[in-house]
Amino acid sequence: MDLQKYGPWALIIGGSEGVGAAFAQLLAADGFKLVLVARKQGPLDELAAELRGQGAEVRVLSADLAQPDVLAQVRGVTDDIEVGLLVYNAGANNTRGLFVELPEEVTGSVLAITVLGQANFARHYGALMVKRGRGGIILGGSLSSYLGSPTLATYTGAKAFSRIFSEALWAECAPLGVDVLHLNIGFTATPAMARLGMPVDLAEPPETVAREGLENIANGPVWIVSTPGNLERARLISAVDNRAEIVRSNAIPPRDKTAEAAREHQRLAAGD
Ligand SMILES: NC(=O)c1ccc[n+]([C@@H]2O[C@H](COP(=O)([O-])OP(=O)(O)OC[C@H]3O[C@@H](n4cnc5c(N)ncnc54)[C@H](OP(=O)(O)O)[C@@H]3O)[C@@H](O)[C@H]2O)c1
Repeated sequence: MDLQKYGPWALIIGGSEGVGAAFAQLLAADGFKLVLVARKQGPLDELAAELRGQGAEVRVLSADLAQPDVLAQVRGVTDDIEVGLLVYNAGANNTRGLFVELPEEVTGSVLAITVLGQANFARHYGALMVKRGRGGIILGGSLSSYLGSPTLATYTGAKAFSRIFSEALWAECAPLGVDVLHLNIGFTATPAMARLGMPVDLAEPPETVAREGLENIANGPVWIVSTPGNLERARLISAVDNRAEIVRSNAIPPRDKTAEAAREHQRLAAGD
């Protein structure tokens, strides 16, 4: 990763585990200084200690992205440094249910983290990058951005926002020297997924996802991670015609059917 274009500091939102931690490890190895943000202090401190042991300069902040003052909190640890790379990784969904029945706090926090969070952080750090005429923004996305799925209305809608927002931001920022990428992630073996009881042995390792994000930061606006089956699924569920049938037939399966669905995607990708 080009330290001159995207350094010297990288800010990783959701940077304590999984894909966020993998970004931190790869960037530290390339000489970046890091600011890591997540809620739990313990995993942040553990990762920071490991990276400092390898010679990296690291700042950590425990903050909740669902809180309205989170950008101000993060600015408290970044206003005196030059953030050349923003990786907004956090944004998984851990609650399913009918939109009209879920508590407003649940759906509101998904919107705060993914919609307002990505927009507010991209505006603040993007403006500073544009002034310098260099930098990069990676926004954590999902294959689910292509299809509204029952029981996941807010999550899939928020990821659709992320993808479309990234496309527009990419077009605006590219001539100003700043790269924008919506990193479109499929099933990935993160601790968050493991805690939900998902069959992560069938999933993409977080290192692959982070590496593809960094390697393709200049290949925006959208990069679909190369997990077998991802591209085929994106093509299938993003078709314009006959949305009713596509939505009915391709909804994200309930969690206990995830293993079956992952195997089916892999079979599709292999042409079986
Ligand atoms: N894993 C998959 O299969 C998959 C599939 C498609 C897309 N994605 C996307 O990939 C990204 C990473 O997903 P993930 O599975 O690793 O889970 P995640 O919970 O979105 O990300 C984990 C990281 O974010 C932090 N985090 C989560 N909620 C936070 C909050 N409210 N405030 C501050 N930090 C928060 C976590 O630390 P704390 O818990 O300590 O806060 C951790 O560092 C997400 O955008 C997700 O939508 C993942």
